[in-house]
Amino acid sequence: VLRHSFARKAHNLSQTSSNVLQVKASFKVAILGAAGGIGQPLALLVKMSPLVSDLHLYDIANVKGVAADLSHCNTPSQVRDFTGSEELANCLKGVDVVVIPAGVPRKPGMTRDDLFNINAGIVKTLIEAVADNCPDAFIHIISNPVNSTVPIAAEVLKQKGVYNPKKLFGVTTLDVVRANTFVAQKKNLKLIDVDVPVIGGHAGITILPLLSKTKPSATFTDQEVNDLTNRIQNGGTEVVEAKAGAGSATLSMAYAAARFLESSLRALDGDSDVYECAFVQSEVTELPFFASRVKLGKKGVEAVISSDLEGLTEYEAKGLEVLKVELKGSIEKGVAFAQKQA
Ligand code: NAD
Ligand code: LMR
Repeated sequence: VLRHSFARKAHNLSQTSSNVLQVKASFKVAILGAAGGIGQPLALLVKMSPLVSDLHLYDIANVKGVAADLSHCNTPSQVRDFTGSEELANCLKGVDVVVIPAGVPRKPGMTRDDLFNINAGIVKTLIEAVADNCPDAFIHIISNPVNSTVPIAAEVLKQKGVYNPKKLFGVTTLDVVRANTFVAQKKNLKLIDVDVPVIGGHAGITILPLLSKTKPSATFTDQEVNDLTNRIQNGGTEVVEAKAGAGSATLSMAYAAARFLESSLRALDGDSDVYECAFVQSEVTELPFFASRVKLGKKGVEAVISSDLEGLTEYEAKGLEVLKVELKGSIEKGVAFAQKQA
C-alpha cells in the first residue's frame, strides 16, 4: 500500500532538479528545536521539499546561523529564524505543520522516561503557543518520551479548547524505518519495497513490529522474529550506546521525520493514498493513544487501520498484551502532568 515512500520520492527528486520546479511549493512548516541534533538535518531535508514555501526555524539559541546557512540553498522555500519565547508566536502564525524535536536526548543507561521531567515542560509550553497561534496545524511530536508527550499535548490543547485529535501525531516513523532496514537486510529483500507496520508506542517493549504483516510477504523463523523484534525495539539504545554520551539518533530521525512530514504535506495537497504509522488518539485498543497505520488526508487522520491487529501471531499477540500495561502507565503519567499544571 505504501507505494510513495519518502525514499522513493527522494530518489526521484534527485534524478532531476527540474522536478523541484514542477510542483507548486505552498505549505508553511515550522520546526521547534531547529538548532538541535535532529532539527538541523531535518531543516535541510525540509528545505529540499518541493511542497514547502516557508520554513520557520525556532530554537532558544543558535538558530540564526542555521537559517542563514540553509537560506543559500537554491530550493523554493523561504527560510526565517526565530529565537526565544518572544519570537515564538510569529514563528507559528499561518503555519500548516509544526514539527517538534525540542528537548533533551538520552545518554547511555537512561530510558526515554528519564527525559520526562525536562521534556514534559518544554512540550507543554510549546503546545500552548501552538494552540494560541496555529490551532489548525498538523502537530508532529518527536520529543521523548513520545508515549507521554503526546498525551500532554492533547491535554494542553483540550485546556485551550482547540484539540483536534485528527491533527496530533507522535512521530514513530523511525521505528518503521528501522524495521524496514533490518528486515530487508536479514531477508535479502529490495529495501525500497519493504514495509513493516510497527504498532503500540515509542519506547522499548511498547514498540511492536508486526513482522507477520511485512510487505512483500516474508517468512521468519522463531529465532529471526525474536532477534528482529529485539533489535527494532532497541534501535534507539543501539545508537545511544554507539554515540557514547553524545546524544541519540539524529540523522536517521531527521530522515524519518522528513518522510512523515512529506507524507503529511502530500495528504494536505490532496493525495488520497497516503498511509503512515503514527502514535495517535485511537480506538483500536482500550488505550486512548496507540501507534498504528493511519490514512492521512487533508483534515489529518482519515482512518486508523485497525485490521493490522487482526490475525496476529501468538508472539505478536503476547507482545501486544505486555506492551499495553507499560503504555497505559506512560499515557496516564502524561495526562496527570498536564492536568496538575493546568
Ligand atoms: P538536541 O539536544 O541535539 O537538540 C534539542 C534542541 O531543542 C536544542 O537545539 C535545544 O536548544 C532545543 N530546545 C530545548 N528547549 C527548547 C525549548 N523550550 N524551545 C525550543 N527549543 C528548545 O537533541 P536531539 O538529538 O535533537 O533530540 C531532541 C528530542 O528528540 C529528544 O527528546 C530525543 O529523545 C527525541 N528523539 C525522538 C525520536 C523519535 O523517534 N520520536 C528519535 C530521536 C530523538
Ligand atoms: C530513538 O528511537 O532513536 C529515539 O527515541 C531516541 C532514543 O532515546 O532512543
